[in-house]
Amino acid sequence: MTEIAAFDYSLATRMVVGSGAIARLGTLAAELGGRRALVVSDPGVVRAGHTSLGIASLEQAGLVVECFTGLAENPTTEQVDAGAACARAFRPDIIVGIGGGSSMDCAKGINFLLSCGGRMADYWGRGKATASMLPSIAVPTTAGTGSEMQSFALITDAQTHVKMACGDPRAAFRVAILDVLLTLTQPPRVTALSGIDALAHAVESHVSRAATPASRIFSREAWRLLAGNLPRVFADGGDAAARAAVQLGAAWAGMAIENAMLGAAHALANPLTAAHHVVHGHAVGLMLPHVLRFNAAACGPAYEELAADLPADPAPPGASAAPAAARIADWVTGLLVQGRLATTLSAAGIREPDVAALSRAAAGQWTGGFNPRPVDAATLAGLYEAAR
Ligand SMILES: [Fe+2]
Repeated sequence: MTEIAAFDYSLATRMVVGSGAIARLGTLAAELGGRRALVVSDPGVVRAGHTSLGIASLEQAGLVVECFTGLAENPTTEQVDAGAACARAFRPDIIVGIGGGSSMDCAKGINFLLSCGGRMADYWGRGKATASMLPSIAVPTTAGTGSEMQSFALITDAQTHVKMACGDPRAAFRVAILDVLLTLTQPPRVTALSGIDALAHAVESHVSRAATPASRIFSREAWRLLAGNLPRVFADGGDAAARAAVQLGAAWAGMAIENAMLGAAHALANPLTAAHHVVHGHAVGLMLPHVLRFNAAACGPAYEELAADLPADPAPPGASAAPAAARIADWVTGLLVQGRLATTLSAAGIREPDVAALSRAAAGQWTGGFNPRPVDAATLAGLYEAAR
């Protein structure tokens, strides 16, 4: 008899998936009672024309729209404050995030401040919302963070540069619209960075100490879709079928994170972003192969299962007898190369890393506590050293 671990799972977000599905945004917003929509979008997404498609759909459904675009990559508390001020003046009854993780997280952050008051730091952690929040809709234009399917907003403290994960079930989007046509315009570098982030979400959540039978359904399928299709997308950004698979894989990974959290690769990545401005997906990709090898002793069977989904191994017969962790790690490094991303800290421009300071910061990351093999500042320092 298989023993089933206890868990508590509920689906917070309705998924609407389809090519051209952004045209349904207005109707879906109206169904949620929306009459005044605050659209949160970053300037690059506006330039790509996606934001105006969303606004047109909202206006066609009779909604009045205000657009806030004062955000950048890794949205800061100052940017969220500015968005909240814009929202207080406009008085929306629904919030729509159109863009990558930054737009979606900023939309959630604005919702926290508008609905519950205070400042972003008040919501750092889980379940700190003090009131019900406005209904919100996500329209992702990248396939990476999975923010569309989870209740956390990553907001960077403008002073300390610390990334605060602020989550509450009430902050989850009510609807996520996955329209593959919006992801076709991602430049190759954005495709690589967001794709590798999503892949790390799948593998870290799959072996997390907090993983449940429900979260593993999502992480397993996320991995299958991402491992099978990221190489195709990196080779041909116009491959819409592979793009759609990657978009769905990133969303499933977001659902896995919501319930299982992440692991040491994310704990190690965040200080690299804070201290050296390495883009999140790249920082995760630099560290993930070393974390896979480190975790091998704790989760060999789970890695064996994932390794079975790796695209055809070009190595000669017999060569694949390497442990699954090593095969996956080598494959991730190959994917970084295919995505034209540096594979070591020094090649990424970090020649003299302050390993002691970085590993102290990594040891303080909440997400590291979910790594299947316990980590502390000393083991994390070893992983930074391995990545040099
Ligand atoms: Fe991530």
